Amino acid sequence: MDIKEAIIKRHSVRRYLDRELEESVVNGLKTSINEVCLESGLDIQLVLNEPTAFTGFLAKYGKFENCKNYITICGKKGREVDVGYYGEKIVIAAQMLGLNTCWVALTYKKGKVLVKAKAGEKFYITIAVGYGRNRGVPRKTKPMEKLCQVTGEMPSWFESGMDFAMRAPTAINQQKFLITLLENGKVVAKSKLGPCAKIDLGIIKYHFEIGAGKENFKWENEE
Ligand SMILES: Cc1cc2nc3c(=O)[nH]c(=O)nc-3n(C[C@H](O)[C@H](O)[C@H](O)COP(=O)(O)O)c2cc1C
Repeated sequence: MDIKEAIIKRHSVRRYLDRELEESVVNGLKTSINEVCLESGLDIQLVLNEPTAFTGFLAKYGKFENCKNYITICGKKGREVDVGYYGEKIVIAAQMLGLNTCWVALTYKKGKVLVKAKAGEKFYITIAVGYGRNRGVPRKTKPMEKLCQVTGEMPSWFESGMDFAMRAPTAINQQKFLITLLENGKVVAKSKLGPCAKIDLGIIKYHFEIGAGKENFKWENEE
């Protein structure tokens, strides 16, 4: 499975099998986490066989079953976009290892999580991970024209970037973002107001890069 295929196949999964992760899968996940930690400077940890954080949450939305493994992301303040961008790299790597995932900002018991942020850092979010009872289902998306702005004809690389951005997970499927192709040929991605919208934005940027091909464009304000 390549990255594009993994993005197409990924859907949030909240119900997991009561099955320990295989050693080779754990090793693959740890390798990916270590690479992303080095690249990003974020503090990302894998917690295995710890059921309490995802047990007994009573809300209807965001209820988890048999979730015993999760990833935690901590880091310096103001790194929301990076948390999304680099976290999604791990989500897609997990998908390629045959796992299922769900980003989780709210519907778990934060007090039960053993990992704490280091002094001066912030605990951002968790990602549930395991073998899903199913592979998840496709969900609705806003139409492309509501999520981007292009003057004139849309280049095919941009359209492919949008296709992948629209597949990005966002908190409560809010899709509060706008991607604009500027007249100078660069691309700018902005978030609107919404819970976790900056983390969403990082996820979206990662997806857009995969769809559009990094060689085809540059982000505005980035070298
Ligand atoms: C930043 C972020 C936070 C999320 N928080 C939660 C959560 O607290 N509980 C939950 O069940 N799902 C959570 N989700 C999963 C979203 O509901 C899900 O990604 C969205 O509905 C789109 O569905 P998909 O991931 O299957 O494409 C979160 C997703 C993101 C990106």
